[in-house]
Amino acid sequence: MAKKPTSGSTSPVSRPASDPAARRVFVAPCARGLESVLLGELDDLGLEALQLLNGAVRFQGPLEHGYRALMWSRVASRVLVELVQGPAWDSQSLYDTVREIDWIQHADPDRTMAVDFVGRNDGIRHSGFGARRIKDAVCDSLRDRTGRRPGIDLKDPDLRLHAYLEGEELRLSVDLAGEPLHLRSGGVQGGRAPLKETLAAALLLLAGWPQAAQEGRPLVDPMCGSGTFLREGAAMARGDAPGLMRTTWGFHGWRGHHEAIWQQVVEAARSAAPQPVPPLFGFDADRDAIEVARHGLRAQGLQDVVSFAQAPLSVAEAPCDEPGMLVVNPPYGERIGDRDEADNLMGLLGDILRRRFLGWHAWILAGSPRMAKRLGLRPAQRIPVWNGRIECRWLEVPISAKPVARDV
Ligand SMILES: C[S@@+](CC[C@H](N)C(=O)[O-])C[C@H]1O[C@@H](n2cnc3c(N)ncnc32)[C@H](O)[C@@H]1O
Repeated sequence: MAKKPTSGSTSPVSRPASDPAARRVFVAPCARGLESVLLGELDDLGLEALQLLNGAVRFQGPLEHGYRALMWSRVASRVLVELVQGPAWDSQSLYDTVREIDWIQHADPDRTMAVDFVGRNDGIRHSGFGARRIKDAVCDSLRDRTGRRPGIDLKDPDLRLHAYLEGEELRLSVDLAGEPLHLRSGGVQGGRAPLKETLAAALLLLAGWPQAAQEGRPLVDPMCGSGTFLREGAAMARGDAPGLMRTTWGFHGWRGHHEAIWQQVVEAARSAAPQPVPPLFGFDADRDAIEVARHGLRAQGLQDVVSFAQAPLSVAEAPCDEPGMLVVNPPYGERIGDRDEADNLMGLLGDILRRRFLGWHAWILAGSPRMAKRLGLRPAQRIPVWNGRIECRWLEVPISAKPVARDV
């Protein structure tokens, strides 16, 4: 082990590999701003030692806990299982930390791998360099043991490692998800500027949709696009495990995977009793968007619980007598359409809500403070969330049950 000249070194902590009951460290990354929602979700799943990080939640437990998060989390973008935590102040100490791992227990020398590397420090200045050193350490280790080494496939590897360098410490993990978890069913998607499923789910959790659904309240999205809110909202209300839709997983290329334990998690998810789903409604001016939305619901076996209609916002009205929840992600102007149009649409949305959705509870994803102002309604909450690179506000807007004087 290379000694750091100044402050001395700590030894790498290599995590257990073969014993599924051994306690492990997991990290579930998520979009910035959603850490607390994710922590709440993982807590509800009964996971332990939860710790908020920047853009992630860490937890600890047996392998089954990691699998449970993988199967049930609607908000996490991946689930990583940590293999080692150790010093990495320069190229050699990074290499030595990675060599501590008994790689034959994790990687198949006849299959492919890739390393994602995040972070840098004075001794490791480029993520590409860090990734290469880790790859060297893994390949050298396997070649010494077997005479063979894994191939590199950056696009579709059998085993994806995730390296996170924080200061002079490396945390190296296996990505158990593979494809990111927002791809619920292998990526059957479409539509203009669709929300990621993980973000839509987090927004619905923040809005208290599971509780409203249990009370039988309806859900409306008047600009539903590809229907992400409705797909996530219906699946959440019925209690479907998002992981049941997927067929490929990162753990398939990991030698530490325990299929019997995974199958227990799959069986438990399959046997969860479906809950009654309240009525859901989707509208959009764009006929193609409605088709994409219908297709997505059909793919999830949820076509019967959502009613769709092609309709511009100007004719939107409450589709049922009982007030419910309205969620909407209007165009921001930055991504589709232009700013003035987007601002005018917010004004129209405010009018429509005030006059035709009496007593409803609206939640609006505003792409800028300007948009929020144009709504002309006072939000009870403005929750900061990131939609990709756009800093948004998730606005809670309770609508008064008192009628206003004249219709729009
Ligand atoms: C940002 S996209 C919504 C994306 C959606 N949340 C999803 O995940 O696919 C905004 C949607 O508003 C619709 N839209 C724009 N102007 C509209 C209007 N005047 N009336 C109804 N829908 C409109 C667009 O067709 C588009 O599908």
